[in-house]
Amino acid sequence: MRVGVLTGGGDCPGLNAVIRAAVIAGAQRHGFEFVGFRDGWKGVLEGLTTPLDTERVRPLLAVGGTVLGSSRTNPLAVEGGVERIRKTLAELGVDALLAIGGEDTLGVATALHEAGVPVVGAPKTIDNDLSATDFTFGFDTAVQTAVEACDRLHTTGASHHRLMIVEVMGRHAGWIALHTGMAAGAHVTLLPEVPVDLDEVAATVREVLERGEAPLAVVSEGAAVGDAEVTTGAPLDAFGHVQLGGAGERLERELAQRIPGLSSRVTVLGHLLRGGTPSAADRILGTRSGLSAVTAIAEGNFGTMAALRGTSVVQVPLSEATGVLKTVPAARIAETAGVRW
Ligand code: F6P
Repeated sequence: MRVGVLTGGGDCPGLNAVIRAAVIAGAQRHGFEFVGFRDGWKGVLEGLTTPLDTERVRPLLAVGGTVLGSSRTNPLAVEGGVERIRKTLAELGVDALLAIGGEDTLGVATALHEAGVPVVGAPKTIDNDLSATDFTFGFDTAVQTAVEACDRLHTTGASHHRLMIVEVMGRHAGWIALHTGMAAGAHVTLLPEVPVDLDEVAATVREVLERGEAPLAVVSEGAAVGDAEVTTGAPLDAFGHVQLGGAGERLERELAQRIPGLSSRVTVLGHLLRGGTPSAADRILGTRSGLSAVTAIAEGNFGTMAALRGTSVVQVPLSEATGVLKTVPAARIAETAGVRW
């Protein structure tokens, strides 16, 4: 059996751990051969490959990013995309695909499975917003990196009696902000899932300052801060258009209007959260995902992905993972509601 492997969408710590485990276990346990497709579905569409064998993958466990490269190419949006994929697989003698990715990549895998292409998935995203799995690898590393940054920012903030605003990734789901805020002891944590009451945020910031402490605010990039109706004071660009900035910047602007003399700084962590070596937990989850995926291929259990359920990694239908994002549930939000740290 010859297995093609690809990584799609935004990269994430732990991708190489999946590739390593799948290739080593696939070769040893099942006698599989592997070929890497470069840059996600683009590589499968265009037949762009890279060799993938045990020797190449052995040193990859702790390496960040993906050795296969990634892209956001969606073959379903390309004329004749599915047929081109079938053609590449036939030409290269690839019998099965392992697609490692998030919502978009696995959405394509689901459609290909429905079209008869033998494919299994491994879910990844630092955002942790994929349904059907409790956690995705990459998330733990992202939160750890964000918390380290917050700890550092908090000490400089304290020296200058400043509000430090830290913007983290998470366009649609606030998992990174929620966990970072909790682990870093943030006084304010804003998620896309919860409407933002700027007056309440200002009251909290004032209270922390009055106690003689430096407030820390963790803001998801997708938090609804300073939307259209609350952009008063936003700078204008050369064409007179309002420059909204990111959620962190918008929060700073809104608070400056509510708290005279407030000193604040904004740090956007952005792609810092996606880079670097994976945490131990993400190396383990990535490895378990790769092991589960090759077992699924050996058993002909196509159209499934490796999901973490409690402490077990099990194969679940790909269709369960795509279509609806896993946002932070109301029960998690209620746990801390009204508590002023
Ligand atoms: O989905 C992962 C993610 O890192 C999001 O948190 C973020 O909004 C987005 O990707 C950034 O994408 P890009 O790397 O294309 O800027």
